[in-house]
Amino acid sequence: MKKKIKSDDKKYIWHPFTKLSNDYDPLVISSAKDDKLVDIDGKEYFDLISSWWVNIHGHGKKEIIKAIDEQLQKFEHVLFTDFTHKPAVDLAKELVSILPKNLSRVFFSDNGSTAVEIAMKIAIQYWSNIGEKKNKFVSIIGGYHGDTFGAMSVGYSSGFYKPFEDVIQKQFFISFPEYWSGKNDIERAEKIALEETEKIIDKNGKRIAAVIMEPIIQGASGMKICRTEFLDKVLKKFKDSGIIIIFDEVMTGFGRTGKMFAADYLKIKPDIICLAKSLTGGYLPLAATVFDKKIHDNFFGGDISKAFLHGHSYTANPVACASALASLDLFKKENTLKKIKKISLIHKECLEKISKKTSVSKVRTIGSIAAFDYNKIDTKYGSKESDILKKKFLENGLLLRPLGNTIYIMPPYCIEENSLYNCYQKIIEILG
Ligand SMILES: Cc1ncc(COP(=O)(O)O)c(C=O)c1O
Repeated sequence: MKKKIKSDDKKYIWHPFTKLSNDYDPLVISSAKDDKLVDIDGKEYFDLISSWWVNIHGHGKKEIIKAIDEQLQKFEHVLFTDFTHKPAVDLAKELVSILPKNLSRVFFSDNGSTAVEIAMKIAIQYWSNIGEKKNKFVSIIGGYHGDTFGAMSVGYSSGFYKPFEDVIQKQFFISFPEYWSGKNDIERAEKIALEETEKIIDKNGKRIAAVIMEPIIQGASGMKICRTEFLDKVLKKFKDSGIIIIFDEVMTGFGRTGKMFAADYLKIKPDIICLAKSLTGGYLPLAATVFDKKIHDNFFGGDISKAFLHGHSYTANPVACASALASLDLFKKENTLKKIKKISLIHKECLEKISKKTSVSKVRTIGSIAAFDYNKIDTKYGSKESDILKKKFLENGLLLRPLGNTIYIMPPYCIEENSLYNCYQKIIEILG
């Protein structure tokens, strides 16, 4: 059976973010429970990256499965133009109740990239609807926002898109003053980024529709963290210039940073927020782009040319909405933010130990995310050394995927304290 799955996989499948080669040998997963995945041979793996950052309460959570099942018994899907349904309305209402107060209109789609495209398109059309041509974006060096064309343009500096260089729109970028414990001279790096912001706004403000960023922590570029005081200063400059602020919280949303949203750490709130990944608890694809009412109202009434003519077949899929509602309910029932706090304390304690290794630098953590750089391997994404390390982790029952030479740990919130300590112990042994 395993052999057949693997040979058919080789014959029929093209995997994402994967170097095609005859040596490619993916793990065949046959079940999952709580914080563990089980392969077809029965070997268990701690899911220390939450299945690409989507899973939050753990795998096989009965409350979420029940909600999905109950919705399936009613109806599985219906178009969302001219029709609506309770799961979508309830979810929108619930999201609005937990997001920053100004965000109150929800546009559903299917994944993080579409959530970002929608935010960017709405930002451009917002200005167009009031007769202004503003179609440029500012983003932060290293930011990643997904793999569709708009998202690639604002995530260009993440380094994944060289072949598309000539067809991607050119945007403006400001530097990211990365912070970690013991970092010297952070004020200087922040001052430079603030000056860059001022320059871009002064010179090109009239052409800029919006600024988009992963607030506080950049995921794909290596779990890089900046200081909230700095970010508030940058955001104020955009706010004062009337530039729309978009937060891409596709990775940071739903407790990852220790608060429900990274926006909750900041004084200046976004006009648009993008949510996906763990919105459904990690069970089904769903995304939401949520808007300030003033942006929504600008599209209200009038001619069809003013409307946002954009939609996806599975917009607001009711089964996915039911899953999201069950996930949000678990936050209340299980006091999930308290669980995250415990994880965060273990991260701090274990990182302290890890930071003593000479091969380790830039130790950093926020909420349920911990990261450090491992200087014995290449900094390039997908290097041979990082593949070897990834394999070693798997052999030891740990699903970890280094980003360049950054090793990060982002478990589902259900992980038991002892399990997390044991995982750290194994990591320390493997790093040598
Ligand atoms: C911050 C951020 N935005 C957008 C995306 C794209 O999401 P998706 O993979 O669901 O298209 C990702 C994916 O990793 C992400 O981390």
